[in-house]
Amino acid sequence: MHVKTIGVAFGFCAVGALAKEKAVDMSRHAEYKSGAVMGRVMAHKFEQWEAKLASGALNSTQWPRLNYTKCVDGIAAAIPGDPLHTFRCKNMDLYDFVNHATLGSPLSTEEGQTGSSIWGWTDPKSQREFIAVGMYQGTAFAEVSSKGRLINLGFLPAPVKLSPYALWKEIRSYKHYMLIGSELEEHGIQIFDMRKLLTLNPKKGPVTFSIDKDVTGHFKDLPLGRTHNVVINEDLQYAVAVGAAPREDACGAGLIFIDLKDPSKPTRLGCNGQDGYVHDAQCLKYRGPDRRYWGHDICYGYNEDSLTIYDVTNKSASSIISSTSYDGAAYTHQGWVLNPNNQSFLLLDDELDEVNATGPAAAGYPITYIWDIRDLKHPKNTGYYKAANKGIDHNQYVINGLSYQSSYGAGVRVYDVSSIPRDPTGGSVCETAYFDTYPEDDKEEGGGVVGFAGSWASYGWFESGFVVVNTIERGVYVVKMTRKGGGGVGGGMLEEEAYEMLDVKSWHEGCEQDFFFSNESAPQTTSFFPFRTYLLPSLQRLKTLRNIRNRLLHG
Ligand SMILES: *[C@@H]1O[C@H](CO)[C@@H](O)[C@H](O)[C@H]1NC(C)=O
Ligand SMILES: *[C@@H]1O[C@H](CO)[C@@H](O)[C@H](O)[C@H]1NC(C)=O
Ligand SMILES: *[C@@H]1O[C@H](CO)[C@@H](O)[C@H](O)[C@H]1NC(C)=O
Ligand SMILES: *[C@@H]1O[C@H](CO)[C@@H](O)[C@H](O)[C@H]1NC(C)=O
Ligand SMILES: *[C@@H]1O[C@H](CO)[C@@H](O)[C@H](O)[C@H]1NC(C)=O
Ligand SMILES: *[C@@H]1O[C@H](CO)[C@@H](O)[C@H](O)[C@H]1NC(C)=O
Repeated sequence: MHVKTIGVAFGFCAVGALAKEKAVDMSRHAEYKSGAVMGRVMAHKFEQWEAKLASGALNSTQWPRLNYTKCVDGIAAAIPGDPLHTFRCKNMDLYDFVNHATLGSPLSTEEGQTGSSIWGWTDPKSQREFIAVGMYQGTAFAEVSSKGRLINLGFLPAPVKLSPYALWKEIRSYKHYMLIGSELEEHGIQIFDMRKLLTLNPKKGPVTFSIDKDVTGHFKDLPLGRTHNVVINEDLQYAVAVGAAPREDACGAGLIFIDLKDPSKPTRLGCNGQDGYVHDAQCLKYRGPDRRYWGHDICYGYNEDSLTIYDVTNKSASSIISSTSYDGAAYTHQGWVLNPNNQSFLLLDDELDEVNATGPAAAGYPITYIWDIRDLKHPKNTGYYKAANKGIDHNQYVINGLSYQSSYGAGVRVYDVSSIPRDPTGGSVCETAYFDTYPEDDKEEGGGVVGFAGSWASYGWFESGFVVVNTIERGVYVVKMTRKGGGGVGGGMLEEEAYEMLDVKSWHEGCEQDFFFSNESAPQTTSFFPFRTYLLPSLQRLKTLRNIRNRLLHG
């Protein structure tokens, strides 16, 4: 393969910054614990969504299906000349878009519908890739074809009456099952076997699944049958319902453990309400440097005003290891461990710091907080990275050194965070790619609004490289990076080498990875490790390849 042109994207690179962990502010803790802060966030969201509903913006049928559109010079013009179908992008092409109505959640009377979570599953035998899409009226199931087109297969309705104040679903996979939770009372957690999709004939059109006969299990043992999110530890075969209101419950809307050994009979194992409401969490078999916890089962909780780490080895006698806040904390929302096989760092997103202009988020640019968790009793906030576009950083996850964030109006944003172990200030984090699914706010100062519009969540683990993005208003986008990162695990390169190779003296300081080849001749077949095929032949001027190998090994 021959690469003709090498382009440098002078995009965003993070600015290294000091940050600081601190004790939870007890003078304000009661306000969080009571739910008053969350109540204000929710009120703010509904104010925005109700205005949208009134204006007709939540009628998703107005958004036509889109075709493959290459990202050229920062723009993917899916319908040339139409500003609402002209997407800002970087290193990411559009493959498909299908609206929520088509996926089974049409607008219904006065009840506005929105999209929320999305998750994927790959059949290990055929390698076919499937998604589950959370929408107001239920969950859609579709296949992502080898060409990145969505094949609509079926719809599982919510098992209870809808409420406009419980719009969303949260979905996570456990083996070949999807667990679907919702804030709807009496909804429980539906457990759907994705293997059901393997034998459907798409030519017959999407099927409507039965809420009784077509689910493997239905977990209902929650205080009100509602949960904010579902967390899975596949290794240890359990799920956790987090934020299962009410807060006054004995479990405090904290962690409620659910045994998944037999998904047809999910059973409650115990709970932990010691730090009250848990908005989101990640629970992992501990594989980190803190010897005291080797062999333990740890949950990292995102608890409104703190990062709270739990030892949940014994589900009926779990305990808090530490609870820590940070400069700028407003609403600790979600996060992800950088490397689940070496739990040394994690990324944390705060959902209110940009809105409330606190700490480093004062200017309205999304801040992601970096934590050194090598000592579970004393986690340290070592830095943060700041997005280039105004918005609010939302759900994120990390795959092979790349963090995928759904940054609401700024769309899906991919950051190369592989530098963090070496530079925990965040100064070497770079934006690798993005696809801005919400053109409505692009003309705003700073490139977007600090609001709850646009992209809610994405799923990026498919071998094919397709990333599926669910949005609040429109539907599901399928996008794909033309290159898997310019650096990091996928194609590590040192700053000096990049300078030398590209002879670019004005390279943004501290950022060695924000580059890619402008001419990607075969986007459909881009390998996950483009290093050998694209990069290697071009690196004639490098002094040594050993440095790169080291980066690949330690990246
Ligand atoms: C939704 O949008 C479609 C397409 O623009 C239109 O035909 C339909 O009347 C709209 N429905 C409502 C309830 O506004
Ligand atoms: C997508 O391609 C099909 C087939 O060429 C065409 O009919 C359709 O109008 C295209 N859609 C858009 C939004 O351009
Ligand atoms: C778990 O904790 C409970 C309650 O303290 C205790 O009875 C039980 O023995 C513990 N289980 C294990 C395996 O340690
Ligand atoms: C957000 O800002 C408002 C208004 O300045 C203030 O009253 C509130 O305490 C802030 N909330 C948080 C969580 O910082
Ligand atoms: C885990 O990561 C830390 C911090 O980067 C590093 O010092 C340590 O060597 C790593 N351990 C393993 C087993 O890779
Ligand atoms: C990219 O490179 C290919 C093969 O070298 C060439 O045919 C094509 O015209 C180039 N495309 C662009 C946009 O430069």
